[in-house]
Amino acid sequence: MGEQKRVGILTSGGDCAGLNPTIRAVVLRAGKQYGWEVMGIRQATHGLMKDPPDAVVLKPNQVDPLLTAGGTMLGTTNKGNPFAFPMPDGSVLDRSEDIIAGYHTLGLDALIGIGGDGSIAILRKLAQQGNWNLVGIPKTIDNDVGVTERSVGFDTAVNIATEALDRLQFTAASHSRVIILEVMGRDAGHIAISAGIAGGADIILIPEIPYTIDNVCAKIKERQQQGKNYSLIVVAEAVRTEGGDALTHTDGLGECRLGGIGQYLSEQICGRHVAETRVTVLGHVQRGGMPSPSDRLIGAAFGVAAVDLIAAEQFDQMVTWQNRQVLSVPITEAIAHYRAVDPKGTLVKTAQGLGIYLGD
Ligand code: F6P
Repeated sequence: MGEQKRVGILTSGGDCAGLNPTIRAVVLRAGKQYGWEVMGIRQATHGLMKDPPDAVVLKPNQVDPLLTAGGTMLGTTNKGNPFAFPMPDGSVLDRSEDIIAGYHTLGLDALIGIGGDGSIAILRKLAQQGNWNLVGIPKTIDNDVGVTERSVGFDTAVNIATEALDRLQFTAASHSRVIILEVMGRDAGHIAISAGIAGGADIILIPEIPYTIDNVCAKIKERQQQGKNYSLIVVAEAVRTEGGDALTHTDGLGECRLGGIGQYLSEQICGRHVAETRVTVLGHVQRGGMPSPSDRLIGAAFGVAAVDLIAAEQFDQMVTWQNRQVLSVPITEAIAHYRAVDPKGTLVKTAQGLGIYLGD
C-alpha cells in the first residue's frame, strides 16, 4: 500500500445503466487495493460549485447494492456549462473558479470523471485551469466517444431497444402494420443499427447514411409481395427528413430537443397508402433499469483501470476498450475523434448482407 490518497468521483451528462457498477468498482479498487478514501461528488460539477462542496465518503462495505442499480447514486446533470453557467436572472457567468475551488477544498489528490465526450472535455478544461489530476471513464448510451469501442451504458440501451423490437414484431404481424421504433443516440446511429440487426428490423435508418422515402416504401412493398404482412423500421432520433430538415422541438424551458422522425416517416408511408403505420418513441426507457451483465463488466474493468492509472500517476488519460482489453489514451485524443457509425464498417455490411434497407 502506497501513500494515502483521497480520490473524488463524479458522474456527468445524461445518466445510463452501468454508472453505479462503475462507481462500485472504483470504490472497491481504491479502498481494498490501495487503502484510499473515495469522495462521491453529487450532481456532477454542481456538487463542486457548492460551498461547502456536496460530497459523501463512499466506503467499500457500502457499495455492493450498486452492482445491479440503474442510474447514478451520485446524481448528474447534462446542463450548466461551468464556463457559461446559466444564472437565475437569465445571464451567464463563468463559474469555473468556484468548481476548481471545490476540488481543492475537498483535498482531492485526483478526480475520476465519468462522462461522455462533452462532459470529459469540460472536465479536462477545468483540470488544466485548476491543476487537477483527472482520469476519465467514457459513458454514454450513444457510444460515440472517440477511440473507445465501448462506453458504459450502450449495451443496456441496445438490449432495451432490441427487446422493444421483439415485442413490436408480434403486434405488427397481428395487425399487418408497419411499426416504426424511434431510438436515441444523438447524432450517431449506433443504438439503431445494433438493435435493428439484433431485433430483426427490415429497415434501419441512421444519420450517417442518406435514404429515400421511395426506397423505404419499396422495401415494405417487396416484403408484402413476399407474403410478409408487416415490417419493422428502426430510426435514430437524429435522422433528417428526406429533404434534409432536422426534426427538433423546443421544450418548455426553451431547450432544443431531437424528436419527430418516427412520426414523419409514418406520415410519409401512410400518405402513400403503402401500409398502416404506428410509431413507438422509446425515449428514456433506454437509459433506465438494471445494467446488463456487459455494462457491469465494462464498468468494473474501467473502474479498476482508472484507479490503477491514478496509482501510476498517469493523469489526463481516459480509459478505453480496444481489442478486448482496457487501455488508456490522452483525453485530448479521445475528444478529438467523434465516433459515428462507419458507413463502410462491419455492422453496415452485416445489415446490408441480411437484406435490411439501410439507405442508399
Ligand atoms: O446523450 C444521451 C442521450 O440520451 C441522447 O441519446 C438523447 O438525445 C439525450 O441524451 C436526451 O437528453 P435528456 O436526458 O436531456 O432528455
